[in-house]
Amino acid sequence: MTQSNDDSNGFVDVAALSDLSENEGRIFEIAGRWVAVFLVDGVPHAIDNACPHMAGPLGSGTCSDGIVTCPIHGWRFDVRTGEAPTNPNTRVARFESRVERDRVYVRVADSRAEDRST
Ligand code: FES
Repeated sequence: MTQSNDDSNGFVDVAALSDLSENEGRIFEIAGRWVAVFLVDGVPHAIDNACPHMAGPLGSGTCSDGIVTCPIHGWRFDVRTGEAPTNPNTRVARFESRVERDRVYVRVADSRAEDRST
């Protein structure tokens, strides 16, 4: 797991794109929240690291063709949509990501709103 630095736009520089591997999860702490980042067809996708079942670490799960399998009890999620393939009503939170000059940035949008309200 890696802790990253925040920037003024809410996007956090988490890693070089070239440091990510296809279908392999990496876990980062962003604004106090653990986020799993996966590279699928060259595009980074960020989801909550905590599985909605019992908070298993999705970033440590196996991932194939964009579908991550939770290492605890095997629930599966499409990292591109956050939805469970067999039940779209079961989903994990997704976060906005972008790539600039080989750097991957992720924004945990609601964390800033929560910070302002407290
Ligand atoms: S904690 Fe992920 S399937 Fe149970």
